[in-house]
Amino acid sequence: MSAADEKITISQIKFEDIAPIYNLGNRLYTSNKWSNLYRTWDEYEIIERYISDKEYCHVAKANNQLVGFALATLVEKKNNPWLYGYIIWMGVDPKHSGKGIGSKLLKKITKLFKKDGVKIIMVDTSIENKQALSFFKKNGFEEEEGHVFLSKNVSKN
Ligand SMILES: CC(C)(COP(=O)(O)OP(=O)(O)OC[C@H]1O[C@@H](n2cnc3c(N)ncnc32)[C@H](O)[C@@H]1OP(=O)(O)O)[C@@H](O)C(=O)NCCC(=O)NCCS
Repeated sequence: MSAADEKITISQIKFEDIAPIYNLGNRLYTSNKWSNLYRTWDEYEIIERYISDKEYCHVAKANNQLVGFALATLVEKKNNPWLYGYIIWMGVDPKHSGKGIGSKLLKKITKLFKKDGVKIIMVDTSIENKQALSFFKKNGFEEEEGHVFLSKNVSKN
């Protein structure tokens, strides 16, 4: 079967997807590439979403193997009737990138958010992450707003 024939299925996260998601995230969010993603990515991120936001967390599989994931949540603001959707983590196995898997995941989450009354979907990523920025812009995200993460190494004098 050629890569083009490979059937990609999108489905809601299951308990057994937690470990493969964690492993794929570890391969994607490396300290040398995206230090902030590396620092904040851990198994609790996934477990928390699995417990609280299962309906907005989906996986992509090819031949029953995990090739991508999107973990998202609803954001409600007190005294504000608008509902926001926040895509917290997304990842696609580099072997499968550029095949439309990320877009399929995003489309699924968007559909679920819209059904539940979400008006605005938010994402954030490093300004250096050209791949993700290009991906989100291609999928209709705009109104870019700058945000800077600073860090200080306090282990030195
Ligand atoms: C961002 C990401 C989820 C996109 O998934 P994907 O399945 O490759 O995306 P799609 O195939 O649906 O969309 C393709 C588009 O994504 C962008 N893209 C994907 N791979 C790219 C690459 N290597 N370089 C530049 N842009 C890339 C481009 O805009 C591309 O459109 P094009 O083919 O017309 O140039 C995936 O690249 C990824 O996992 N990146 C690392 C993790 C990450 O940064 N996640 C987001 C922050 S949590």
